[in-house]
Amino acid sequence: MSRPSPPGEAAPVDARTADASPVDTAPPDGRPTVVRTRRELREAVARLPRPIGFVPTMGALHEGHRALIRRARTENAGVVVSIFVNPRQFERADDLAAYPRTEAEDLAVCRAEGVDVVFIPPVEEIYPAGFQTTVRVGALAEPLEGAARPGHLEGVTTVVAILFGLVGAERSYFGEKDAQQLRVVRRMVADLAIPTEIVACPTVREPDGLACSSRNVRLSARGRAAAPLLHRALLAGRARILAGERSAEAVREAIRAVIGTEPAIELDYVSAADEATLDELETIDRPTLLSLAARIEGVRLIDNELVVPLRGTAQGEPEG
Ligand code: PAJ
Repeated sequence: MSRPSPPGEAAPVDARTADASPVDTAPPDGRPTVVRTRRELREAVARLPRPIGFVPTMGALHEGHRALIRRARTENAGVVVSIFVNPRQFERADDLAAYPRTEAEDLAVCRAEGVDVVFIPPVEEIYPAGFQTTVRVGALAEPLEGAARPGHLEGVTTVVAILFGLVGAERSYFGEKDAQQLRVVRRMVADLAIPTEIVACPTVREPDGLACSSRNVRLSARGRAAAPLLHRALLAGRARILAGERSAEAVREAIRAVIGTEPAIELDYVSAADEATLDELETIDRPTLLSLAARIEGVRLIDNELVVPLRGTAQGEPEG
C-alpha cells in the first residue's frame, strides 16, 4: 500500500521543523505530528489514545474549521485533521488552482488547538496509479450542489470514504455550512456501514453574518461588503416562514428579492427544500432547508438556514 516517499517526506516531522514561520509557538510536547503518507498516518494513529475524532478539511483553516477541531478535541482522546485539496471535487480547473493553500498557518492553527496528527498527503498518496473506484450517493446528491456542480459531491464522497478508511476514527466532524455534503456523507456512512459517527457542527459566521469560508479571502473589499447579504436574504426567508408563509415559492422569491438589491451578487440557485430528502417544496409544512449558491467577483459562495415552521398557523392567521 505504501510506496517510497519523495525526499524530505519519508519520516513524520514535527510541526516545529515543518514550519519555521514567526507564528510558530511550539508546545513542549511537540504536537502535532505531521504525516504525508498512508504508512506514516497508520503508524501515528496507532500511537494515539482512543477514541479518535477526525476533522477532514481542505486547509486554509478559519474559525469554522477551528470550531470543528475544538469540538473534536473536547469529545475525544486523540484528534486527527486532514488537509487535502481534493482535485476530484473541483469541476473547474481554475477554481482548483485558485483554492488558497496556507500550510504553515494551518499547522499553527492545529498546534494552537491541540491537534495530535495532521495528515497532508500529496495527490498520488490518495489516488495512486490504477485508482478507479468512486462512491456516488443517489437522490440526496442530485439537487442543489449536485445539479450545479456535476461530479462535485461524488468527488467528496469518494475522498471522504478513503480518508475514513485510512484514519479509522470513532467520530468524524462536519459543518452544517455544507448542509448537503453533511447529509450525503451521513447517507454514505449508513449505506456502506462505515464505522464512524458523523457529528454535525453549527455554521460559524463573521460578525456581519457572512459564513466563514476559505473562499472569502478571494473577495475584494467591495465584494466582501456585498457578501453578508447572502445570509440576510436567508434570514428574510426564515422570517417569512415564521410569520406564517406556507408557499415555498413565495419564500424563495423573498430571498431572491433581497439578493436582487445587490448587483454584485450573481445568483446560482435559491432553494426551499425538505431538510431530510432535499426535495424542493411547494408547501412549507415541515422542517425546511433554505439554501443558496451565488457568485461574487467569480467566487462561489454557499449558505443555508434550517427553519422549522411553527405548528398550525402563525400569528393566529386562519388556516389556509
Ligand atoms: P472544507 O471546505 O475545508 O471544510 C471542512 C469542514 O469544515 C467541512 O465539514 C465544512 O462543512 C466545515 N466548515 C467550513 N466552513 C464552516 C463554517 N463557516 N462553519 C462551520 N463549519 C464549516 O468541506 C470540505 O472542506 C471538503 O469537501 C472535505 C469534506 C474536506 C472533502 O474534501
